[in-house]
Amino acid sequence: MNKTANTLTVILLLMILSGFLATTSCKHNPLIPIIDPVDTTIIDNPTDPVDTSGWPCSPDSVYFEYQILPILISNCAMSGCHSATNPKEGVNLTSYAKVMSTGKVKVGQLSGDFWTSINSTKSDKQMPPPPASKLPQDQIDLIKTWILQGAKNLTCNPGYGGCATANMSFTNNIAPILKQSCTGCHGGSSPQGGIDLSTYSSVVTMAQSGKLLGSVKHNAGFSAMPPAGNGLPTCSINRLQAWIDQGMLNN
Ligand code: HEC
Repeated sequence: MNKTANTLTVILLLMILSGFLATTSCKHNPLIPIIDPVDTTIIDNPTDPVDTSGWPCSPDSVYFEYQILPILISNCAMSGCHSATNPKEGVNLTSYAKVMSTGKVKVGQLSGDFWTSINSTKSDKQMPPPPASKLPQDQIDLIKTWILQGAKNLTCNPGYGGCATANMSFTNNIAPILKQSCTGCHGGSSPQGGIDLSTYSSVVTMAQSGKLLGSVKHNAGFSAMPPAGNGLPTCSINRLQAWIDQGMLNN
């Protein structure tokens, strides 16, 4: 064994490695830590929640809990449909593990009942079924990207880096939260519980009654909303609260 040669090889490797680290670490704005999306596919246990507080969301990734599950709960998991109790055809769409165990999601492929029914325009195939309308196109596109990215259970903290609550706008901040998590049930021609959250005036009525915040904060005396899943992200609840405190502007 040639000791000097070995030492030289090690030094050479270290030089290559440090050069590599130096180039990769300078690619991004150093103020924003870049963390690869965390795949919690294996850790889907609601009793043991993953601490995501240090994980910013990347705009290039789709996060199941935060972006896909609310759509499924609001549009598919109402009671009598794909809820946890007595789900139709055994298809329970209330958690990542349940969604995947249906066997209807074809990972990475735009086929399989899950995708084809969501994307279908045939009335006997379409989900949600008529008289409900198809999902909005932006939600269909998000589901498409999620499937193509491998139907993973990526996790992040939507409030990472602080949750801005100044000057809340109904159109830009509040309506999108309700559209993502509530109006599948609380919209359309026969909203659940007789509560419509798809228009400004009906949201104001609910807010004034105290029920809007009471239900999303899971306060005693209110029905917890959404009725399945892990609840709204704290940042969304803070934004609803701020919008109400700021006078519920129709802006
Ligand atoms: C899967 C369907 C579904 C989703 C999603 C859903 N709700 Fe509901 N909601 C219901 C049903 C059904 C009722 C009436 C029965 C009850 O009170 O539990 C209800 C009742 C309510 C009430 C009245 C609560 C009370 O204590 O009187 C409020 C307020 C409400 N929902 C707000 C929301 C908000 C805000 C969201 C989104 C963050 C949401 N809901 C998401 C089905 C849903």
